[in-house]
Amino acid sequence: MSSVKVVVTDFIEPDLEWEAKEMARRGVEFQTHQLKFAPTSEVIAATRDADLVIVNMVPITREVVSQWDRCRLVIRHGVGYDNVDVRALQQAGIPVCYIPDYCAEEVAEQAIALLIACGRKLVASRRVLDCSSAQGSWDFAGVVPMFRMAGQTLGIIGCGRIGSLVYRKLKSFGFEFLICDPYLSEERKRELGIEVVDQETVFRNSDYITIHTPLTAETRKLVNARTLAMMKPTAYLVNTARGPMVDTQALAEALPNGVIAGAEIDVFDVEPPRPDFPLFALPNVILTPHLSWYSEDAGRRIRELILLEIDRFLAGEPPRYIADCAA
Ligand SMILES: NC(=O)c1ccc[n+]([C@@H]2O[C@H](COP(=O)([O-])OP(=O)(O)OC[C@H]3O[C@@H](n4cnc5c(N)ncnc54)[C@H](O)[C@@H]3O)[C@@H](O)[C@H]2O)c1
Repeated sequence: MSSVKVVVTDFIEPDLEWEAKEMARRGVEFQTHQLKFAPTSEVIAATRDADLVIVNMVPITREVVSQWDRCRLVIRHGVGYDNVDVRALQQAGIPVCYIPDYCAEEVAEQAIALLIACGRKLVASRRVLDCSSAQGSWDFAGVVPMFRMAGQTLGIIGCGRIGSLVYRKLKSFGFEFLICDPYLSEERKRELGIEVVDQETVFRNSDYITIHTPLTAETRKLVNARTLAMMKPTAYLVNTARGPMVDTQALAEALPNGVIAGAEIDVFDVEPPRPDFPLFALPNVILTPHLSWYSEDAGRRIRELILLEIDRFLAGEPPRYIADCAA
């Protein structure tokens, strides 16, 4: 295996010394780069003779792929793979492996944290405390009314790894659930003990909606002016999935007009969002910087899982998860 060359195009870890040691133990040549903003020519030069390319955010375009001599696998560091031209790679006979299972607990925890933050109006509560402290008497106007979360209806759109964890973790909170996932198998529904409903039922009847679908043609702008208008004016929307599933403009118009009560957003069309992002100015929004995936544990886990994929590659085994160009 001494002839195998693994090239990392870019990485978010402080360093890749652990990976370098593991590669050395296996006799694999290992090169790392930080090419996120580099011209295509540099990406080509760095990856041209790699057997395996590991990519975080660098665009792996058709032009890049066309210059590769011997690549047999691309590993995308993370869940989404929109920076990788999967079709071009498929046509070149190179599978794209991705890592969808390193941070489901964290994203579910974040979605739940956001749901509770809006139900208990945590951000507004701090403003109320600061104002009351400054004036020397309580003024709760900024946080009333609040409603008991137990007994309210939580809509979950997409009940895969993350959505089902949200469901399982929140069962003990006493929510009623409306779950929409037309692709869930009968066996999985039985396992979870759930029934599913259609999307409109979720939008019309939920007090909270949390989205956990992949980004596909079908889910792009799933939340739009029409579906927002179906929601209760007291309802909250949580999106930790992917930015383009929510029509930001429609949400920015709905929120100040009381169409819904509030939104909690971790993911954006353009990342990071520009300073003129329309939701920055709104008080009934909680925004977090696409960090739902993050914990020290998840950061360690993804490195272990990528190493596992390299070992599978070296052993001639297929990747555990292969990206689909229809997605
Ligand atoms: N914010 C973050 O840091 C972060 C981290 C990891 C994952 N994510 C995102 O979270 C989302 C969910 O990830 P996952 O690992 O649970 O995915 P998953 O593939 O395990 O589950 C997705 C579920 O959505 C269902 N689905 C597909 N189309 C649907 C539709 N039109 N309506 C309703 N349900 C539909 C599928 O049947 C599946 O059960 C993805 O968009 C992923 O990119 C975000």
